[in-house]
Amino acid sequence: RGRVRVHHLAQAKERGDKIVMLTAYDAVTARILDAAGTDVLLVGDSVGNVALGYDSTIPVTLDEMVVATRAVASAASRALVVADLPFGTYEAGPQQALASAVRLVKAGAQAVKLEGGVSRVSSVRALTEAGIPVVGHLGFTPQSVNALGGYRVQGRGQEAADRLVADARALAEAGAVALVLEMVPAPVADRLTRSVTAPTIGIGAGPGTDGQVLVWTDMAGVSEWSPRFARQFGHVGDALKEAAQDYGRAVREISFPAPEHTFDA
Ligand code: KIV
Ligand code: NA
Repeated sequence: RGRVRVHHLAQAKERGDKIVMLTAYDAVTARILDAAGTDVLLVGDSVGNVALGYDSTIPVTLDEMVVATRAVASAASRALVVADLPFGTYEAGPQQALASAVRLVKAGAQAVKLEGGVSRVSSVRALTEAGIPVVGHLGFTPQSVNALGGYRVQGRGQEAADRLVADARALAEAGAVALVLEMVPAPVADRLTRSVTAPTIGIGAGPGTDGQVLVWTDMAGVSEWSPRFARQFGHVGDALKEAAQDYGRAVREISFPAPEHTFDA
């Protein structure tokens, strides 16, 4: 099939087809993940942790997201490209959110993602009305790590679960085309998924969501550390290290470059 577009997300939920989402931050990786049939490539602000050496997503700037978004969009031929609005570029309200989102869309994003619930409704509505599809992000929202008291499961207990479902309904009502649910108890994610027409995409939210997302380095086994909810589907870090070791050996023993890699006079 051709390019994945936002209406395919709702279609997938209706049909019961799971949505497959991975992060990507550069063209070389995006090309591989796109060719693998990944439905959605998320230019996550996790670029800060994964690629830029920050210890959270909080320092990530809009300029950094624009660079990564342009790179991923240039390499994705089928996947839908969604880009995160980084911390501090949308919380002031719809005008700030719109100005920031426009930069990501001009860089090639087909949709933007922002964190938060009812407090983001006016911004979600403004972006949607401007023709920019919005993905919500509920549960553990890393940009609020300081307010949430660390990396912890959200939505435990009746009251917190009810609040999460209300947030989800409000975002969907405002036009959100999908909702990422991070570190939410599986039964709560199931209930929330049944409560909204917008598809849910889980990370640490159990198998009942309409799709799954992982940080690609966690998925592929490149990360030094990865969270409990992630699974390594490969050992790409080890493979890369071995390739670099083989290269180093070949250079030192002068078996590389060989004649076929060398130009005559
Ligand atoms: O930035 C990111 O990687 C994300 C996903 C974990 C959903 O927001
Ligand atoms: Na993110």
